[in-house]
Amino acid sequence: MESKILAIDTSCDETSAAVTCGRRVLSNVISSQIKIHQKYGGVYPALAKRAHQERIDYVIAQALQRAGLQSADDLSAIAVTQGPGLAIALEVGIKKAKELASQGEALQGFLPLIAVNHMEGHIYSCLAQNSCGLPKRELTDLSLCLLVSGGHTELVLMKNHGQYQVLGATLDDACGEALDKAAKILKLGYPGGPIIERLAEEYTRKQMSLRGVANDEAIPNDLKRLLHPATGGVRNDNHLFVLTRPLKEKTNLNFSYSGLKTQFLYLTQKLSPEVFGRDLAVLATIFQEAAFEQLLRKTSKAIEIYHPKTLLCGGGVMANKYLRTLLRALAKKNNLPIFFPPNKNLTTDNAAMIGVAASYKFERKEFVQYIESLDREPRLSL
Ligand code: KG4
Ligand code: ZN
Repeated sequence: MESKILAIDTSCDETSAAVTCGRRVLSNVISSQIKIHQKYGGVYPALAKRAHQERIDYVIAQALQRAGLQSADDLSAIAVTQGPGLAIALEVGIKKAKELASQGEALQGFLPLIAVNHMEGHIYSCLAQNSCGLPKRELTDLSLCLLVSGGHTELVLMKNHGQYQVLGATLDDACGEALDKAAKILKLGYPGGPIIERLAEEYTRKQMSLRGVANDEAIPNDLKRLLHPATGGVRNDNHLFVLTRPLKEKTNLNFSYSGLKTQFLYLTQKLSPEVFGRDLAVLATIFQEAAFEQLLRKTSKAIEIYHPKTLLCGGGVMANKYLRTLLRALAKKNNLPIFFPPNKNLTTDNAAMIGVAASYKFERKEFVQYIESLDREPRLSL
């Protein structure tokens, strides 16, 4: 019988607990705090901590119940996100995980505690399965991982389970953070990514019906050209506003979003209130395109250099359908299998991905040696 793991993630603004069995997700309970943080236009750490404290016991009880377990006694291990994330939020999950692991110790003699890197969780979200063991995806020996969330934008080479090389990361803002800030500039609310996606989708659909173009032509020319790098080209002439992109291609695989955000702020400040209101959807669209173009360009470059066998895409921004379309096109062009998290609850922050990552650590017996010594690592890297 495979081992059942109770996993906990409280790294940001979702309180989540899950029960996993190998790669199979038996339950994945997520209590979102979006409503609490909405009025601040971003995550308010002290409120996040309090909400995690108030909700954690209920979320864990629900996760056990939905997985058909009577109590923590039926578990083989406890897994918890150690970092990266908000220090005071991480702390809540870690404290609870320690409590459960030491109670287990008293009851059964031994209940191992597994510390998981949140970003490793986003990678493993692509390998998560439902309770019937689907989808059956297999990992090759060399995978390229593109991780795009509210806190991170990273390209990681995964050489084997647990073996990572970070190829590039953002030098300033994360892509999700940039989308959230752009939405704030446009006075659209929080979190911005999904709102910008919806506006851009509506705008593109309208444009398509005006021009009478087929669905596969929804990809703007500049991004299409990016998928065929030989031709180059970075301007989308269909748009009224243009955000410039670096003229000279940098050879490294790092990302940067703060320049784009500043440029966007200046551009919007120059608009009259009428134009601003009228062209919100165009503005959302060009920002989204510029943000995603960078992801495509760097991922394309990494494929060229490292010749991976699979592309794994994780993190909250991967919920974006348009980004998925672009990345699928890029993977197809390079003959690469591409995996996204199989459902939305596995895309944004959740504990099931932590449980799946932990199952490989369980096999390798990578346990926290002294339960009491486990501490949060807000800046933990892969
Ligand atoms: O992975 P995640 O849930 O939390 C972090 O670990 O940061 O990612 C949250 C980020 C937010 O910036 C949010 O705006 C973005 O993911 N996001 C999206 C979409 N859904 C969530 N961005 C673009 N399109 C979406 N549909
Ligand atoms: Zn995350």
